[in-house]
Amino acid sequence: MEKVTEFLCCYKNYNFAVGLTTAEYIDSLQSFEVRDSDIFLVTYAKSGTIWTQQIIISICELAGELNENPKNWNQMPWLEYPVGEQEYTTRPSPRLFTSHLTPALLPPGLKKKKAKIIYVMRNPKDIAVSYYHFSSECSHLETPTSIEHFLQQYLKGNVAGSSWFDHVRDWRSNKDQYNILFLSYEDMILDLKGAVKKVCSFLGKNLSEAAVEQVVEKATFKNMKNDPKANYEFEPQQKIQGNFMRKGQIGDWKNLLTAEQSQEVDRLLQEKLGDLSLKFIWE
Ligand code: A3P
Repeated sequence: MEKVTEFLCCYKNYNFAVGLTTAEYIDSLQSFEVRDSDIFLVTYAKSGTIWTQQIIISICELAGELNENPKNWNQMPWLEYPVGEQEYTTRPSPRLFTSHLTPALLPPGLKKKKAKIIYVMRNPKDIAVSYYHFSSECSHLETPTSIEHFLQQYLKGNVAGSSWFDHVRDWRSNKDQYNILFLSYEDMILDLKGAVKKVCSFLGKNLSEAAVEQVVEKATFKNMKNDPKANYEFEPQQKIQGNFMRKGQIGDWKNLLTAEQSQEVDRLLQEKLGDLSLKFIWE
């Protein structure tokens, strides 16, 4: 991996936080054997990953398909980080994985369209603000000197996970190669039950109304904040630490971004993704 800064290294055009993975490990994913029953959650950072993990895991557990596991981290491991328990070949189906990777870096077997991918998008201004706060407290990310500096790095893709614009474009424009469901963070906020039902239907899990309610209850911001299974704050031995449950709202960007900064995001969004006609909820 090419070291870009003290905190970032680049491999195959994708920026990783230093120390979390290796080029050899990322290469090994090219021969990772995907099972038709695998379920992948893919997101750009700060898009609601931990939240959606909780939803998918609760659905599969309530459908009686997963043995209870005290940690979501173990139940749905990050594919790109070789940490924790990694005996993936002996895991019973369905296996659940989480990833921030782009299509090119994930196992090619996913393109067979049988394994399922859930991709969660969030509006890029709230991601910028959420990522700024997260970077300020997370030991493996560079502490931003100001929101303006962080915003410029984020807009250029000089952050872990590279460019949000590229991530969204890569996944949207390659969607026909995958069995993929697109969700949005904002739709989940506005109608959590509806989002849970969408996920159930995509995963082919026929849960009772009471079980759906249980999934919703476990996935509320308030409950997740205190849930040691979902909350990585209680995970001292893991490398990825930080407060993943910060505010949980749409539109917090208005409290931090200036009108000029917001307009700059709008301009880049139009320039880089305008042709995709994506709709975002901003507040
Ligand atoms: P904020 O920093 O804006 O609060 P990720 O898991 O991809 O890192 O995303 C983190 C973001 O998702 C944080 O956004 C966090 O608060 C929010 N989040 C986590 N759990 C949530 C929940 N149950 N409901 C709403 N938002 C949630």
